[in-house]
Amino acid sequence: MRRILRSAPVVLALLAAALAAQDEQPGKVAPYYPSPLPIVKQMLELGELKAGQLHYDLGSGDGRLVIAAARDFGARSVGFEIDQKLVDASRQQIADLNIGRLASIESRDLFEADYSKPDLITVYLLPNALERLRPLLETQMKPGSLVISHDFMVPGWKTDEVVTIDEELEIDGLLHSIYVYRR
Ligand SMILES: C[S@@+](CC[C@H](N)C(=O)[O-])C[C@H]1O[C@@H](n2cnc3c(N)ncnc32)[C@H](O)[C@@H]1O
Repeated sequence: MRRILRSAPVVLALLAAALAAQDEQPGKVAPYYPSPLPIVKQMLELGELKAGQLHYDLGSGDGRLVIAAARDFGARSVGFEIDQKLVDASRQQIADLNIGRLASIESRDLFEADYSKPDLITVYLLPNALERLRPLLETQMKPGSLVISHDFMVPGWKTDEVVTIDEELEIDGLLHSIYVYRR
């Protein structure tokens, strides 16, 4: 385990405020608040993602994790997103990049997905959403698969590793933590 710094309360306050400020949408459990690109890369690296594996990003926002997983790691990647504008924008980007063979976005509530197939699941969701998600992941994910969570721990799970981004990589004036869980 590397250095741990306490950025989560600050990020939680920011995200909770962003969620409150964004349009009310039934079922939305986290605001659109994208992971910075260096964090995206690190999440997928910590997830040990390899070509040919299957990756899901739950609440895929503008599709940046899905796009990076397909384009930079050669993985098959699926994003689940409830906000139709983000679904449309990320699908357009996937089409523009011509990576539709590997990358796709499903317009649906992440709590309705089937989690039995992915090798890697990435999340950037609020703690109460992670708590609700936990039993689904526990019962469905296959042994040896990984969950990588940006900034928030999955309540009740023991981390395999916590990586906090060093000061020289500090982005947005915030420190970012990445939590690694192996099922
Ligand atoms: C903090 S953003 C993270 C975006 C992206 N995963 C990233 O790390 O850059 C959370 C995303 O989850 C989406 N979201 C919230 N509740 C959802 C739900 N129930 N089902 C699917 N997507 C959801 C939001 O619309 C938002 O785009």
